[in-house]
Amino acid sequence: MAKVLDTPSHSLREFRILPGFTPPDGNALNVDLVTRLCRNGDGFLELHAPFLSAAMQAVTGVEMAVAIAQLGGIGILPVSQTIDDQAEKIGRVKRFKAGFQTSLTTLSPRHTIANIIQIMEETGYSTFPVTDSGEFHGKLLGVITDKDFDVRRDHACTVAERMRSDVNHGVNIQDLKEANQLMIKFGRGFLPIVDDEGKLISAVFKKDLDKHLQHPNESIDAKKRLLVGAAVSTHPEDRERVQCLVEQEADVIVIDASDGHTHYQRQMIEWIKGNYEVPVIGGNVVTSQAFDFLAEAGVDGVKVGMGIGSGCTTQEVKATGRGQGSTLLDIGPARDRHADKTGNYIPIAADGGISGPADMSVALALGANSLMMGNFFARYTESAGNLMRNAAGEIVKEYWMEGSAKASNHRRYSQLKNLFFEEGITGYVPHLGSIFEKLPVVLQILRSTIATAGCRSIQELHTEAVLEKQSPTALRDSDIHDMVPANIDHQIL
Ligand code: IMP
Repeated sequence: MAKVLDTPSHSLREFRILPGFTPPDGNALNVDLVTRLCRNGDGFLELHAPFLSAAMQAVTGVEMAVAIAQLGGIGILPVSQTIDDQAEKIGRVKRFKAGFQTSLTTLSPRHTIANIIQIMEETGYSTFPVTDSGEFHGKLLGVITDKDFDVRRDHACTVAERMRSDVNHGVNIQDLKEANQLMIKFGRGFLPIVDDEGKLISAVFKKDLDKHLQHPNESIDAKKRLLVGAAVSTHPEDRERVQCLVEQEADVIVIDASDGHTHYQRQMIEWIKGNYEVPVIGGNVVTSQAFDFLAEAGVDGVKVGMGIGSGCTTQEVKATGRGQGSTLLDIGPARDRHADKTGNYIPIAADGGISGPADMSVALALGANSLMMGNFFARYTESAGNLMRNAAGEIVKEYWMEGSAKASNHRRYSQLKNLFFEEGITGYVPHLGSIFEKLPVVLQILRSTIATAGCRSIQELHTEAVLEKQSPTALRDSDIHDMVPANIDHQIL
């Protein structure tokens, strides 16, 4: 007879966090939201905000990936697009900003202004170093920008005739702060840096410095470029995809599978880890056995959750899945046991069904290191779905699940293309405005909850938080009761 577990599956919403003692210096301002996303070589890839925007067509495009990384999280570009499109988007996020730029589009003095106009149209860039060879590492002769020529009259002129050759530059500067300070001293938007022989070795831009100052908690790599991840399926044909994504310098590969406890998943993990150094997050799984299985296969992070996404119909159609509270109660301790036994800490990301700060706090307190969200991010202007007006005249954002007919991500669900059945719906979510305005408040709510729990970090919350399961009546008390919200005009009598 099949085994039936005695305990029911628990959702995140059944738990509340008990307050702990908050010392005078333990308020929300002193709470740090730094967290581990996954292992990365001997250390960890860390985030300043515990968020991943979901690998879904409706959620993560370039705009969302840039925004979420600027705010301290990371965007995961979905697998349900062509390899070229996904790789191109990774490249765009990686090029969005940098510290030292070491490969800029460079011109030779023999180029014509007509050439530049075409390059500007193709790349969107407006500042170009000029070297003797026209290669980035050639001898620096000058700089030309869109302000140095007349687009209507100068087509036939050469770069040599229009470039500025009295260029302020740095020599052999390795320290980014020093380079930025020199750029500010010269009052320029761009500072080329040359070696002793005058050959261009790097450059810094004021716009990159400005972006950093605006977003001090941004997620960045060693070259100060934004972090970005990419999803792949377990299918062997996606090995070529992995290769392209690694070439574009994706910071993490996330295996996108609704059920990660499979032979195919292990094969893909072993293949990636055998060929590349890029960190790999495996998943999705919902049992401690499956966590151990992925850990043994060599993953650097594990994504957990099945059947609990906001528009997911997996449990309805296939009767498979688990409440996210129970998943974390099972897998959090498995991660800690594995770390105690092997010295290898493998962070976990809770994925699906997290709709606001209360769910986020409970998931973190139950052991999640980070949180992947689709619906929550789809509501912001920066998500990939269209902004629309519905029949009631409300402004909404499109949101469709990866298992819907619209996304048809059959590889995520190990389905056959010609016998595809839906595991998710297509719909809309309210539009909330820009993520840049709204997310800082959500981060503040998380800090505040962690402070109330008497903790100062997500790591401390994992060991010190005390949670309590709520009875149905306790849950009813936690909702608004015995009064009507003031959302209609009333007259004083
Ligand atoms: P949400 O944040 O609750 O909307 O859940 C998003 C998560 O649901 C994604 O990150 C996926 O793990 C999962 N998901 C996406 N599409 C589907 C689907 O069609 N069926 C089931 N789960 C899905």
